[in-house]
This record gives sequence, C-alpha cells and structure tokens, in this order.
Amino acid sequence: MNKPIGIFDSGVGGLTVAKEVFEILPGEDVIYFGDEGRTPYGPRSEEIIIQFTAQDVAFLMEHQVKFIICACNSASAVALDKIAGNYNIEMIGVIKPGARAAVKQTKNGRIGVIGTQATIASNSYARVIHEIDPKLKVFSLACPLFVPLAEEGYIDKEATYLITRDYLQTILDVGVDTLIMGCTHYPLLEHVIADVMGDKVTLINSGRETAHAAFSALVESGLLNSKMSQSPPVIGERKFFVSDVPDRFANVAARFLGTTLDQTTRIDITKY
Ligand code: DGL
Repeated sequence: MNKPIGIFDSGVGGLTVAKEVFEILPGEDVIYFGDEGRTPYGPRSEEIIIQFTAQDVAFLMEHQVKFIICACNSASAVALDKIAGNYNIEMIGVIKPGARAAVKQTKNGRIGVIGTQATIASNSYARVIHEIDPKLKVFSLACPLFVPLAEEGYIDKEATYLITRDYLQTILDVGVDTLIMGCTHYPLLEHVIADVMGDKVTLINSGRETAHAAFSALVESGLLNSKMSQSPPVIGERKFFVSDVPDRFANVAARFLGTTLDQTTRIDITKY
C-alpha cells in the first residue's frame, strides 16, 4: 500500500531509528515528526508523556499514514499501548523488538537495560523479557546524561568515557552478557558503551530491531510499498516535521542520520 509510514520521537533522537528504517525499508515513504519544542520526554511524568504522545500520533494520522513507529523509548514504554487502541492502524514501539532480541541473544540469562528515567521507571523492558522467560535476570539503569552528550556531539571525549564507566559499573559488576541500548540516543555512543562493557557483552540496538519488526509487520499485513519490490530499488519520499524552529534539528540531524536533511517543516503540535 503506497501510503507513508509515520515515525515519531520526542525530538532528533528518533532519527537513529529512522536511519535503520531507511536502510531496511528504503522504498517506503516516511513522515517523521520530532517534538523538538517539548524535548526531552525522558525526565517527564507518565501523564505528560501520554498527552504528548497522543498529539504526536494525531499529527501523523492527519497525514494518512498506514503504520506508525514510535521511535521514542520513553513514549513506547509509558504511552503507546494506551493510545494505539484508539486507531485502526498498527503501531509499534521500540521496547518489544529490543526485549525480544535480547532474550534471543543472552546465553547466561543476565540482561542489562539502559534508558531514560521514564523508560527505566516503567520497567517495560523487564516486563516484556519476563513475559517471554520469567527466569531471566534483568538489571535496569537510567543514564540520563547520555542524551545531552549525544546531542552535543560528545562522542569521543574523555568526559564521556568517564561518565560511561561511572554509570555502567554496576551493570558490569552483575555480569550481564547482553545490554539493551533502550534510548534513541545511545547508538551514537555505542563505541564508548562497547568499550566500557568489553567484548563479552553484546549490545542490542532497539531501533534496528524495530526496523526489522516493522518490515515483518508490513509484509504480514500486505502493506509494503510497491517501490520496495522494484529493481533497482526506488527510494521513498521522506518528509520531516518538528515542533520548534528547525535549525537546531537540522544541525544535529546530520550526526544522527549520517546525512543532511533537505527540508524540515515547523508545525504547531499543541493544535492536536
Ligand atoms: N527519545 C528519548 C528516548 O528514546 C530520549 C530523549 C528524551 O528524553 O526525550 O527515550
């Protein structure tokens, strides 16, 4: 079906998920919304995150999307399930695909989860993991400083290594063999996190797992864009919307997406 996919996030971070979607579903048309005017969601209450997420979804629905990906871990953790039922299209978040991949990956049954305060407080990753296998041990930790470090481009700084070592020591001490990067921003710090955790620990990129899950869901429901089956592949149309002046988003986007954006449109999200 040749309608677009909607992807939304609290801001620019969801572009790490969009990047994976562009790779796995290149022929899909995509409408991306980043709530730059109200970012971050991670330190906010459940009530506010639900209200914001409902507006993000309503905006995408206005664009006749056929499928929605909630790229934001915080919104996926506390809000998506409460909103998705109000609409007649499928919506997926990043928690279930990330949790399932971790369950498949672990050998010693010890899984670490890092994310924002909202994601960790919700216990969503642990809940999904325990639904699959209650015997698995899950160790969760909020690492809120990773978000500004990634946005500021503090990718290879000594300060980032120091903070990462300090944050992750407790997770290292409990001997996990699998660590879920449960936040849109963490893939930018993947090399630092991998360095600190050592080569015996496998990192799970929830965004990448979600892009694979979206592919499977679209195939199963017969919703793949016909451009996906053309050879050579035809790249879908991609439109970006934000709820603040687009300049900052455009600057940071290059780092998160690995390429520059043609055009970003500002919208008033409070109308939804
Ligand atoms: N997108 C958020 C997440 O994945 C991180 C940034 C924020 O706190 O809004 O949880």
